[in-house]
Amino acid sequence: MPEIALNLSRGCGNPTGFANLQPGDVVVDFGCGGGIDVILAAHKVGSQGRVIGIDGAPQMIERAQQAVAEAGLQDRNIEFRTAYLDKTQLPDDFADVVTSNCVINLCPDKDAVYEEAFRILRSSGRIAISDIVLTENIAPELRERFQSTWAGCLGGAIPEEDYWQTMREAGFAEIQIVARHLLTPEELEAMACCPGEEFTPPPSKEDRAAVEGKVASVKFTAMKPPLK
Ligand SMILES: C[S@@+](CC[C@H](N)C(=O)[O-])C[C@H]1O[C@@H](n2cnc3c(N)ncnc32)[C@H](O)[C@@H]1O
Repeated sequence: MPEIALNLSRGCGNPTGFANLQPGDVVVDFGCGGGIDVILAAHKVGSQGRVIGIDGAPQMIERAQQAVAEAGLQDRNIEFRTAYLDKTQLPDDFADVVTSNCVINLCPDKDAVYEEAFRILRSSGRIAISDIVLTENIAPELRERFQSTWAGCLGGAIPEEDYWQTMREAGFAEIQIVARHLLTPEELEAMACCPGEEFTPPPSKEDRAAVEGKVASVKFTAMKPPLK
């Protein structure tokens, strides 16, 4: 794995590790960042497969392209698109698998993102995602302070039950939790103090302490039901 992809990795799991990717699969990575999961997916789907990395930040796409070149994968079917996840511009029924690693919690309109993932998946296609959720609700004023800084992956996290409901409403079935891990204080701190503090100032120590034990990373899969 090229250093650039490792250094930019900001995930909270390893979706390609539990996505059961097969040679020839078409994979779309939502919020590909520096490209780590695109590279891992490309190795699994092989030269017959195809991987598309999508990110809203052109700077991340540039770095992901560089990482793919450094990984020696320029001959593979790998593409990148700068787009928001609720408007990928990909066709209907396009992908076998959508992966995403610590991204959807950052999206204000999670309904729209899951509807888009559902739309671009073929029937019986699946998602394999790592994300951040709240295992207990937090006080509205505390939530507001996190949202005003949009710090790391905490600001947009929603209660776990609401998260599954969002997916069910988009049409997904067979939601299976692969792992759930309550973030330790150290992990919370690392996540809350993400790089770019000039854009997203970290929350105070007190606010961080108040969410301790209430934030989890979850890894899960789900599927788009087959056509009847
Ligand atoms: C926490 S980083 C994770 C990056 C990568 N998945 C990883 O594991 O290293 C979140 C990424 O999601 C992208 N992102 C956040 N919201 C987005 C949106 N609404 N549409 C597209 N990309 C988005 C950011 O630009 C950033 O690259």
